[in-house]
Amino acid sequence: MCGIVGYIGEKKAHPILLNSLGKLEYRGYDSCGIAVAAGGIKVYKDAVRVKALQKALSPIDGTTGIGHTRWATHGEPSRVNAHPHCDCTGRIAVVHNGVINNYHTLREQLTGEGHILSSHTDTEVIPHLIEKYYEGDLEKAVELALRDIEGSYAIIVLMADEYKLVAARKDSPLIIGVGDRENFIASDVPAILDYTSRVIYLEDGDMAVVTAGKVEVKRDGAQVARKEDKILWNVEDAQKAGYEHFMLKEIHEQPKVIRDTLTEYIAAAEPAADLAVAGDMSLEGILILACGTSYHAALIGKYIIEELIKIPVRVEFASEYNYSGLAPARNKAIVITQSGETADVLRAIKRLKEGGCQVIAITNVVGSTASRIADRTVYTRAGPEISVAATKSFVAQLMALYWLALPYSRVDIRKLDDLIMELRQLPIKVQQVLDNEMAILECARQISDFENMFYIGRGINYPVALEGALKLKEISYIHAEGYAAGELKHGPFALLGSRTPVVAVVAQDNTYEAIVTGIKEIKARQSPVLALAGEGDETIGGLADSVITVPQVDPIFSPVVNAVVLQLLAYYVARQRGCPIDFPRNLAKSVTVE
Ligand code: AGP
Repeated sequence: MCGIVGYIGEKKAHPILLNSLGKLEYRGYDSCGIAVAAGGIKVYKDAVRVKALQKALSPIDGTTGIGHTRWATHGEPSRVNAHPHCDCTGRIAVVHNGVINNYHTLREQLTGEGHILSSHTDTEVIPHLIEKYYEGDLEKAVELALRDIEGSYAIIVLMADEYKLVAARKDSPLIIGVGDRENFIASDVPAILDYTSRVIYLEDGDMAVVTAGKVEVKRDGAQVARKEDKILWNVEDAQKAGYEHFMLKEIHEQPKVIRDTLTEYIAAAEPAADLAVAGDMSLEGILILACGTSYHAALIGKYIIEELIKIPVRVEFASEYNYSGLAPARNKAIVITQSGETADVLRAIKRLKEGGCQVIAITNVVGSTASRIADRTVYTRAGPEISVAATKSFVAQLMALYWLALPYSRVDIRKLDDLIMELRQLPIKVQQVLDNEMAILECARQISDFENMFYIGRGINYPVALEGALKLKEISYIHAEGYAAGELKHGPFALLGSRTPVVAVVAQDNTYEAIVTGIKEIKARQSPVLALAGEGDETIGGLADSVITVPQVDPIFSPVVNAVVLQLLAYYVARQRGCPIDFPRNLAKSVTVE
């Protein structure tokens, strides 16, 4: 959460900082601010979005500066709590992404020593610690300050009359964009895409000293070499391309995302990762960990792997796994994370590795922390996903899971060939869903006034129901619950009635009859039913109030087409309700705090 940026070069810093911050708002957007070295340090910040701050600013001289867009952890969103934070002299400014666990103690110490802290944030202790240790050497002071800190951080430090930026990271992402007589620092790639495609990914424990002409990376005071990479994403990938929202653009990109992701796997002509485990794989099975939407992909992965490979799969929230009493006994695990920066997932990877487990990460972000600490990384090729609501990354994760499982499949060879062929046809099927967008919009209109909803599915489409409900909640603020269809009558039936619609995901598999019966039972309790049903299904139309027809696919691929329908449904409901779709309240794209 929170995005930070830094610029040092020959151009005016503030337009670049604000532009870059705008690209990082998916990481947090409850307040923002910049500090520019112009004579002394000038700070402009408020509890507003970047665009509003931009409007309020008059031109500032100064070619070096830092910026921050916030997702509050300590202290409510307000001007005083917005970053950058300064020391007592106002000569040192700091932006920070992460959490300082021992800030309370540090704050008391600093206050006792005469420092005056004015915000409620954990971050404010950092500039004051730097002030305390500063004896003419900024790097040394930052190094000493960081020694006092327990927690996670990516920071950029700006000091008056020091013609450099000092950046450091531990458990929070930070990259350097390398330019021509200018350099950039940012939490993530989209912030620098407008300016450069040359990037250095900092490692945990690195400190970078950045001037307009030089980037020096140090560890424990000694210089270390960090290689420069080329960013494969381009500027257009991170723009709206005429769509009203990033979310809609990203939903529409999915046929291409499927193609790009599969093309890469197919071209590699080998399994995406070695799923075979030492010992008896059939006994031990596989563990998959993830959070949020990626967790729903993991649950679908369970069905895919169990169906194709016939081995047991255990799926857990990374956040729960980290506190479970069970030792990480498995010797192979998969973690799924779009950003590769989710704190709970990173912690789980470390825990797994400490227990001797080999970790395969499925991630969308090259150079992300997950990709660097896992033993093996399987990349999805969804391109930058800007909207807080995950859509295309989810579908790309499913592609990775299919491709991981297929080489180990125990289904007969003819069936396997058919599945691979059908997998490659999925872009066409998803395009058919997108072509049906107006029908989905119409259904969205019918349900957008309700305040409570259920989503039901069975088997491999149960996680699709969970994902549909999550999408709806996060962008439309309607309370929605995903349920295994058979479980509704074990309690939630008490909530059914004419003001509680149910969205039923009906698949043409062995769950069909059961879910049809379920729909009849729900209708008998007066709940309006919106059903997703396969082409040619004659039955559902006579039962449900509305039906969205989805293209026929093998049941194992039905989560792909059904999920796209539910993404569009959530999108149009939220649009109908006038919600800020790409930036839902209280949320941030990557949850980099526990
Ligand atoms: C879903 O729309 C959310 N944005 C959220 O649940 C997200 O999937 C979750 O935070 C996990 O993120 P990750 O895939 O980057 O680890």
